Amino acid sequence: MNFREELDKRVNYIEAIIKEYLPEEEGYQKRIYEAMNYSILAGGKRLRPMLMLETYRLFGGCEEEEIKPFMAAIEMIHTYSLVHDDLPAMDNDEYRRGRKTTHIVFGEAMGILAGDGLLNYAFETACLALKGGSYENLKCAAAALSILAKKAGIYGMIGGQVVDMEGFGTLNESNMHLNKNENEVPLSDFHTNHKSILDKLNYMYRLKTGALIEASMMIGAVLAGADAKEVLTVEQMASDIGLAFQIEDDILDVTSTTEIMGKPAHSDEKNNKVTYVTLLGINKAKEEVAALSERGISAFQTLKKENQFLQDLIIDLINRKK
Ligand code: IPE
Ligand code: IPE
Ligand code: MG
Ligand code: MG
Ligand code: MG
Repeated sequence: MNFREELDKRVNYIEAIIKEYLPEEEGYQKRIYEAMNYSILAGGKRLRPMLMLETYRLFGGCEEEEIKPFMAAIEMIHTYSLVHDDLPAMDNDEYRRGRKTTHIVFGEAMGILAGDGLLNYAFETACLALKGGSYENLKCAAAALSILAKKAGIYGMIGGQVVDMEGFGTLNESNMHLNKNENEVPLSDFHTNHKSILDKLNYMYRLKTGALIEASMMIGAVLAGADAKEVLTVEQMASDIGLAFQIEDDILDVTSTTEIMGKPAHSDEKNNKVTYVTLLGINKAKEEVAALSERGISAFQTLKKENQFLQDLIIDLINRKK
């Protein structure tokens, strides 16, 4: 099987797992179940559960029943972050995963509640991993639960979204050298002048996007019984992959189309966001993606463990189109 076929096989496997845990659409609060299922069943790359499963396999994990609740949970948390990210008070976007956004179809109140619902239900689902199993398994599941809570929260994804929402104060097109013309400012000067901006942007990206990717890979490692040093390596590697992933997302916002991505192109421009592309230009941003991914792969190799698909997946993300 080639990489694409392997990828499709895994996406199908993950979607079947997610469906196992979704709520039945019935009762007086039926509407929230519909809104939750609408957003999570719209598709998406399923990258986070995939990274979790492949990291689990990398460390020799072989009881896949124990990781399934966490795979579903991370995708629920990720989906909630998208539902809220698209709200009028945040990025105000009308398309996601090739469909109208949840708040457009179900109204804003239900969009907020569906996001809240997915977040809470993610933890209900993850807690299913605490039922039964050996003492060792229970200890690993509890550690995984703690990682999930922390990385999704104020020290993780939510924290990053806060920095994103606060933005960069008065920094905008009129008072900074936008690298639309990439030769305009020598990069070394630019780095010096804008170091603090770049530092803050990196910080924001490692949180808003990196944290859930870290959680995914760390949970895979922890459930497979990796030791503390290995989990730390996985965390650092996932942070680089996550940062690269968000920089690529900035690039696609400018270079891809709404049809291909299933979400609006030029959303960042619409919201006057400072991004890697506005700061460094597309070419330099692409170089950063490649450099960070290579660093991720090097860290991967220090683990001295084999998972060819995982390695191919990390490389594939560099050139993704959506
Ligand atoms: C979108 O994530 C939000 C970012 C962190 C850039 P994905 O690009 O993984 O979105 P889906 O899950 O495929 O829809
Ligand atoms: C969002 O970043 C990251 C989240 C935590 C949701 P973006 O706002 O760039 O994500 P998209 O482009 O809307 O998917
Ligand atoms: Mg956003
Ligand atoms: Mg957005
Ligand atoms: Mg984006």
